[in-house]
Amino acid sequence: MNLSEYIKKYSDLIEENLALIFNNDNNLPIIEDAMKYSLLKGGKRIRPLLTLMVCRLFDGSIEEVIPYACSIEIIHTYSLIHDDLPAMDNDDYRRGKLSNHKVYGEGFALLAGDALLNIAYEILLNDIHKNPTKERIKAAYTISKAAGLEGMIGGQAMDLYYENKNIEIEKLNQMHSKKTGALIKASLEVGAILSKAGEEDYRRISIFGENLGKAYQISDDILDVIGTKEKMGKTIGKDAKSNKSTFVTHFGLDQSKRILIDTVNNAKKAIEQYGTKANLLIELADFVAYRDI
Ligand code: IPE
Ligand code: IPE
Ligand code: MG
Ligand code: MG
Ligand code: MG
Repeated sequence: MNLSEYIKKYSDLIEENLALIFNNDNNLPIIEDAMKYSLLKGGKRIRPLLTLMVCRLFDGSIEEVIPYACSIEIIHTYSLIHDDLPAMDNDDYRRGKLSNHKVYGEGFALLAGDALLNIAYEILLNDIHKNPTKERIKAAYTISKAAGLEGMIGGQAMDLYYENKNIEIEKLNQMHSKKTGALIKASLEVGAILSKAGEEDYRRISIFGENLGKAYQISDDILDVIGTKEKMGKTIGKDAKSNKSTFVTHFGLDQSKRILIDTVNNAKKAIEQYGTKANLLIELADFVAYRDI
């Protein structure tokens, strides 16, 4: 099966499971509409797909990884809602439509993001409550660390801090590894943990994730310059306008493209010994290197 066949096969499963969080009719004003607006449809679902691919590589159970894969996508979606707020990147478009706060207002966008974050943990704890294996606990801990101060939130704080400032290479790498890399790496690690991969397998997947996650944000920086709004579904040219510190502002476009290819190659090298068994992950890595969406 190639990558596009795989995506076709599994994206419905992801969509169905994401929609399950709205099964309780709470009858609350606006907030549930705001949550649905951002969560359902529109995203590429890269992170849950990565979890499923690693599960396949190590012969794990799809049923077991689905709650973890979905919780990461839910956390990612909350991070996008908050990232677009005027207090952060002030972006009006996301996933091909107006951003959450443009439709529901800043207060509801904040709350929708907060509620999504909480639901992500409800999903994890509910799953662990049903069957508290040490793998499930480790997977949930991996997600919470990656989403928090040591991961995504810490990276977002660096992103804000380094607006209008010069950034050293070491800090730039750290910022990208945290704000975007951490959740991508966790998506992969969780697949390995729940599939009971051995220590060496876990280490290889982790190195793959470290490089893929960083590469993903480098390509996002590049696409903010050379991408199109139609394909990306968000406003282009915002990084320069907001004086963000990015790979492109630091290294220029050509050098950034070279670093992107090198980083993706490092990712691929980490899992080369799996041969064709890892072909979906390799194809996904190539997608990150050459994507325009
Ligand atoms: C966008 O992530 C924000 C970054 C971390 C670069 P994606 O490019 O995965 O966005 P969606 O989920 O497909 O909308
Ligand atoms: C986003 O980085 C990282 C997140 C954790 C949300 P960006 O701010 O560059 O992402 P886009 O370009 O808005 O999608
Ligand atoms: Mg941002
Ligand atoms: Mg942004
Ligand atoms: Mg960006």
